[in-house]
Amino acid sequence: MSSLKIDYLQHDAYSAGQLFTVCRRLRPYLGVAAELYPDFDSWFMSKTVPGLLLNERSLVFAHQGSSLAGFAILKHTQNEDKICTFCVLPSHRERGVGGKLMAACLRRFGRVMPGITVAERLLSQFEPLLKRFGFGNPLAFFELYRRGDAEYVYDPSRRILPTFGSGYYYRA
Ligand SMILES: CC(C)(COP(=O)(O)OP(=O)(O)OC[C@H]1O[C@@H](n2cnc3c(N)ncnc32)[C@H](O)[C@@H]1OP(=O)(O)O)[C@@H](O)C(=O)NCCC(=O)NCCS
Repeated sequence: MSSLKIDYLQHDAYSAGQLFTVCRRLRPYLGVAAELYPDFDSWFMSKTVPGLLLNERSLVFAHQGSSLAGFAILKHTQNEDKICTFCVLPSHRERGVGGKLMAACLRRFGRVMPGITVAERLLSQFEPLLKRFGFGNPLAFFELYRRGDAEYVYDPSRRILPTFGSGYYYRA
């Protein structure tokens, strides 16, 4: 099997045209997240693409040979450091891609531990990975993103919780 290659995509190294091309190519792979988060595609087009241009978001890709194995969308602003989307494509799972992708994301944030939120139904999949990288003590927010569902918020540096306002939550 060919080795895994990690690529970072951020505006200081790419032109706007190159960013748009990459986003267009990534769009068909966003279906995994779209199943969980309503309006994911419009969020991607209205927040992620402009965020890339403003250098407030960046993308991390894991490639196995010529195929995309996984990707992450990161947010890094003055008020927030967050892994917004983290996904290993189904055919590449349980082979260590998630671990390498997470290590690459954390390298991008340097010394700040970002926050990440995980849908309740994905919690058992994500927990070993998150534990290994030092994420713990999540708070569960009911109906943060989806009606009838809880979202687990891991925020070791308290960099994202303040942005949720005073919404209802309960301890995990
Ligand atoms: C969770 C996820 C990132 C794991 O990726 P992966 O490449 O399979 O992870 P790895 O092979 O690096 O394994 C990491 C750890 O998770 C464990 N793991 C992987 N899949 C698992 C599963 N389905 N159930 C329980 N544990 C699992 C591994 O055993 C490993 O544990 P260890 O650190 O104790 O050895 C991947 O399943 C995924 O992307 N799921 C869908 C996420 C999604 O829908 N994202 C979109 C919304 S943000």
